[in-house]
Amino acid sequence: MTHTKLFIPGPVEVSQKTFQAFCKPMIGHRSGDFKKLYAAIHPRLQTLFGTTQPVFISTSSAWGVMEGAIRNLVGKKVLNCMCGAFSDKWLDVSRRCGKDADSIQVDWGQPILPDALDKKLSEGGFDTVTLIHNETSTGVMSPLEDLCGVMKKYPDVLLVVDTVSSFSALPTPMDDLGIDVLLTGSQKALALPPGMALFSVSPRAFERAATIKTRGYYFDFLEFKKNQAEDMTPSTPVISHIYALQSKLDDIFAEGVQARHDRHARLNALVADWVRKNGFEFFAPEGYRSKTLTCVKNNREIDVPALIQRLRERYSCVIDGGYGKLKGKTFRISNMGDETDETISALLDWLDDCLE
Ligand SMILES: Cc1ncc(COP(=O)(O)O)c(C=O)c1O
Repeated sequence: MTHTKLFIPGPVEVSQKTFQAFCKPMIGHRSGDFKKLYAAIHPRLQTLFGTTQPVFISTSSAWGVMEGAIRNLVGKKVLNCMCGAFSDKWLDVSRRCGKDADSIQVDWGQPILPDALDKKLSEGGFDTVTLIHNETSTGVMSPLEDLCGVMKKYPDVLLVVDTVSSFSALPTPMDDLGIDVLLTGSQKALALPPGMALFSVSPRAFERAATIKTRGYYFDFLEFKKNQAEDMTPSTPVISHIYALQSKLDDIFAEGVQARHDRHARLNALVADWVRKNGFEFFAPEGYRSKTLTCVKNNREIDVPALIQRLRERYSCVIDGGYGKLKGKTFRISNMGDETDETISALLDWLDDCLE
């Protein structure tokens, strides 16, 4: 089947092997077969999350869990760290949930830095922080380890980290870093179709959740915990997607987790070389660039939609033309998921041909 291959930063190309896993016959979600399926994938999910805590499967996109984290954890006031479209939106979501919320806002293209986090938290009054590790809209990766270091000074403040576009492409060891909620979505580096999110919750975050009366039902962390203890989910899960996840975990562990991280770094470097060779600049500063996508500054003022149209017509693939207010001013090339040296090198050759 011919199709337009996606080199956008999610959803990304999904393999035929993964699609085939979707076609397994249906099973009941309270059956022994389902429990076996969840129990079979759970230890590998814990390894990827770097946690001994339960890992939950949510039949939603990432925003379900992002909103759920606010509903479950914020009793006093949340600090939303904002540096791009998705992290900015989290403040709006916090307020829509009726929570007291404040922000650190940096210019799009800049990372969240430890000093800024420390300064804001020292004002006091916060009980939760939200952070996006890899801001997909700007291609900026904030320094997770250093930010987690700052959090250690504020033991009563919980940290929620979105690894939607970095999970499984980079190490994000939840327990070692002291992260309280780590969440991701299916359609980025996991190279699954959209519609499923994964997350894990620390013991102290469960304790906090138990004190919050307005957790709702669908994303109630304590419901997830109770059900996972019996290898189940609170409501009917997206079973076909879970079969696909099992297939993907087979792929990830056959490749090796470290090899997977190395591959993402290597492919990202190929794209970076192409950017420099063609006289473009990076939107993100050195040291804070994403390893799963490249947000290219359109300093040459090329016609980005025309470039993408030529790519589509000549090579049946697309890159992204810039997110929101960055449309046309940037373009984004994804190297996440199942891409290889060959596929990324081919894309870069095609881009050379289409630049004109
Ligand atoms: C970093 C990040 N967080 C959150 C989201 C929201 O994910 P979803 O739309 O799948 O809920 C995205 C989507 O691209 C993202 O890139």
